[in-house]
Amino acid sequence: MSADPLPPPSPNPASGRTGSRTAAVIPAAGRGVRLGPGAPKALRALGGTPMLIHAIRAMADSRAVSLVVVVAPPDGAAEVKTLLDAHALPDRTDFLVVPGGESRQESVKLGLDALPPGYDIVLVHDAARPLVPVDTVDAVVEAVRGGAPAVVPALPLADTVKQVEPAAPGEPEPVVATPDRSLLRAVQTPQGFDRDTLVRAHATVTGSVTDDASMVERLGLTVVTVPGHEEAFKVTRPLDLVLAEAVLARRRHNDGF
Ligand code: CTP
Ligand code: MG
Repeated sequence: MSADPLPPPSPNPASGRTGSRTAAVIPAAGRGVRLGPGAPKALRALGGTPMLIHAIRAMADSRAVSLVVVVAPPDGAAEVKTLLDAHALPDRTDFLVVPGGESRQESVKLGLDALPPGYDIVLVHDAARPLVPVDTVDAVVEAVRGGAPAVVPALPLADTVKQVEPAAPGEPEPVVATPDRSLLRAVQTPQGFDRDTLVRAHATVTGSVTDDASMVERLGLTVVTVPGHEEAFKVTRPLDLVLAEAVLARRRHNDGF
């Protein structure tokens, strides 16, 4: 047996990054069942512009982001490419469009598979969060640049949360626990990652998840939060469209004065 001393721990690949390049993957392949019948959710209009275009602009507005990979509905890649050509987007940003998959997780993986070399930070941002402010995007990137392998924007909860025991249809669900609300957070996107860490998570974690950071948690790594923003809410149900239109109207009003 060798008595050689252990090598020093390898440095965190993400720490002290200089000259790092950031790409954003936008999963936009969902149907939007909870929003009701109509076009795929990402292609629905908000203030006359498709939700996806708002989400792309929100990423491209960050000076850190130099590539946006859009994961389109499986049969909608050509339509999405046409949309990108038809809308003004920053020149300094490159765009790629790939078809998505059956689940959000699969769609994100397809986006990651299409990522060219040379990007060491990856943001994953829901097309369904079209109004995230650029300051939130920048805060996520900064935290990854600072050395965190995974970063999520998070907000405290307004509602008390109960854990229930599932019951038969029509039967009341008994409450089994009330977690301490002060320790709970609602998390948003963009979630930011050291690219190699996220790729490893998507290659190794099995079972369905509802966000990307939870896959990194399952690798045993620490995910950290930065402050989220109420305008980064996810457009999920019809009332969310009303709120999104109101936020846009408020922005137009504020820009006008
Ligand atoms: N998404 C995706 N591929 C899928 C499913 C979802 O890229 N197969 C994307 C959605 O387009 C959305 C994001 O993941 O931008 C968050 O998902 P969600 O809000 O659940 O959107 P949908 O799945 O479209 O909505 P619903 O669950 O109501 O059908
Ligand atoms: Mg969904």
